[in-house]
Amino acid sequence: MIIAIDGPAAAGKGTLAERLAAHYGLPYLDTGLLYRAIGRRMADAGADLDDPAAAGAFARALAPEHLGGDLRGREAGDLASRVAVHPPVREALVAFQRAFAARPGGAVLDGRDIGTVICPDADVKLYVTASAEVRARRRTDELLAKGRAVDYDRILAEVRERDARDSGRVVAPLRPADDAVVIDTSDLDRDGAFAAACAAVDARRTRA
Ligand code: CDP
Ligand code: CDP
Repeated sequence: MIIAIDGPAAAGKGTLAERLAAHYGLPYLDTGLLYRAIGRRMADAGADLDDPAAAGAFARALAPEHLGGDLRGREAGDLASRVAVHPPVREALVAFQRAFAARPGGAVLDGRDIGTVICPDADVKLYVTASAEVRARRRTDELLAKGRAVDYDRILAEVRERDARDSGRVVAPLRPADDAVVIDTSDLDRDGAFAAACAAVDARRTRA
């Protein structure tokens, strides 16, 4: 069983994906980490993130040991969305993601183009979303919980900027697959989102 999860930043994809993976006993791949690692490595090397050929070379050189370290922050997310617009970057990552999805027994993958490009034949496609305001509030609360000073308006502007870049790009833009089940978590807590996702997965299994 392949479960594909897509949606905008801070919608709750990763939280949901981890829980589904544990519940159904499937391995989980956070595909955003791949783009984050490429963006981070380019920035650290002083490379031009807007150069598609340079970004493609970094993507092809990506190795498992590059996926450690602190890649979850906002800066890496911004760098990721800049390199993610380049077709050579996306092409370089397809085979690895598809091989992960093809593991015996299945897998859970989350990102932006899993249901549309990477796994168009996934058994279950979830499009997890929430209003930009709710998503910015979640990111703000996460940082406050870590004792960090944060400005909600600035986070909201960053969320909107990343949404625009991810949805507006020519290759593999963020959008729900035609057969995706949309879960709007604006008014759902983690348990509510998990219950909605399990209902979608179980409905699909009953049909199969
Ligand atoms: O992976 P993505 O960026 O889509 O979101 P996340 O990092 O999984 O979740 C963002 C934040 O929203 C986390 O602090 C979650 O605890 C929280 N949250 C959630 O994941 N699901 C909800 N239904 C409500 C809140
Ligand atoms: O957790 P959050 O949703 O904030 O970000 P992420 O899933 O780690 O993705 C970071 C960035 O990588 C996104 O804004 C996209 O630009 C890019 N990405 C992508 O283009 N395709 C994917 N399958 C996953 C991420």
